[in-house]
Amino acid sequence: MARLTVVCMPGDGIGPIVLPEALRVLDAVGFEADYVQAEVGWECWRTRGEPLPARTLELLETWRLGLFGAATSKPMDQAESELPPELQGRGLTYYSPSVAIRQAFDLDVAIRPCRSFPGNPLNFIRRAADGSVEEPRVDVVVFRQNTEGLYSGVEWTHPPPQVRAALDTHRRMVRFRYIPSEDMALSCRIFTRPACLRIAEAAFRYADEHGYPSVTCCEKPNIVRETSGMLLAACREVQRAFPHVDLWATNIDTMTMWLTKNPEDYGVIVSGNVFGDILSDAFAGLVGGLGFAPSASIGARCAIFEPTHGSAPKYAGYEVPIVNPVAMILAGAMLLDHVGERERARRIHRAVARVVADARVRTCDMLRLRASPEVLGQGAASTREMTDAVIQAL
Ligand code: NAI
Ligand code: MG
Repeated sequence: MARLTVVCMPGDGIGPIVLPEALRVLDAVGFEADYVQAEVGWECWRTRGEPLPARTLELLETWRLGLFGAATSKPMDQAESELPPELQGRGLTYYSPSVAIRQAFDLDVAIRPCRSFPGNPLNFIRRAADGSVEEPRVDVVVFRQNTEGLYSGVEWTHPPPQVRAALDTHRRMVRFRYIPSEDMALSCRIFTRPACLRIAEAAFRYADEHGYPSVTCCEKPNIVRETSGMLLAACREVQRAFPHVDLWATNIDTMTMWLTKNPEDYGVIVSGNVFGDILSDAFAGLVGGLGFAPSASIGARCAIFEPTHGSAPKYAGYEVPIVNPVAMILAGAMLLDHVGERERARRIHRAVARVVADARVRTCDMLRLRASPEVLGQGAASTREMTDAVIQAL
């Protein structure tokens, strides 16, 4: 295989702390690639008035593979006041660079694995009938449509007359007939067939390649008939090409109940944008939360891998960093999986599993300690020590 180049976008806060840790692990597992650094995020905005410079976009366009740390976002007024004086008052506006990258490259398939590592003190446990404690093994991968649905951004408070007129053609609008438009807020949930087919196809292919027996479409087609119905129909259509992978359908509301009753019953799940967002956080909470939750955003010509956590700016200035690098390391493993380096990806997983099971090295989140420099004296490992342990276990 041709040598790959990965665009590294550490971003802000703890992004620049965890991303190099993932690179150390990728090196240690023998993945040979070139890395180019690219700027993104709040620091970039503060110094030059753009959170996502053209050079970063060009590098992504060229190399099509990115590792992202995290980017800080702050309210509009603060964004303006933190600009250097010469850039203020020019009408520059801050926008979230991760959302902008998703849109620029149409990264419409989000993959969020939520896998428990046995021995993680943060794992979900439940009580069995005899009163004993059970720790179900969670091995869920949420495929979330990443660009449409309720997050498509097509919304109004006080919809303009043409929009109102179009809505009034629907018989169910009768109920709202006497509500003035200025008292109305409207967010459109737009699904398109090509995007539904793409997320369904990605989910089934993944289930097939990774040995999951079924794909669960989690929506609400009995109520939100048109959009949820379209995704479910797409899943049915795609499933025909994967006859050995079953298709299950659940409703989002009952699913949030089942996921704490029987999380082990689920494997690959496919959902629209909002339900997928909610579901992936809910499942992540069962397997250790932000320190263990990686994510990928994949499009036809570019793919970005990142932890789901943000920049946690409070923890960025520590002389000895204490945040958990595992989510970022697992994001690196997802990158390997994506480029076909399956065995190396699996080795990283096994190494993390061994460190967690070993119980000797625990970051402060795993010990439920409030983050502060003191945690190092209370038995918590530093960021670096955690990475070292993973590398050792490789
Ligand atoms: P956050 O994820 O940065 O932090 C929330 C809390 O989770 C932290 O206070 C910390 O207790 C814990 N945490 C996060 N990562 C951890 C790690 N690796 N190890 C141990 N504990 C960890 O979310 P928050 O505080 O809501 O946002 C902070 C900034 O990050 C904001 O400016 C926000 O806009 C941005 N953000 C960026 C994201 C991205 O770039 N993809 C995603 C989410 C938030
Ligand atoms: Mg979310």
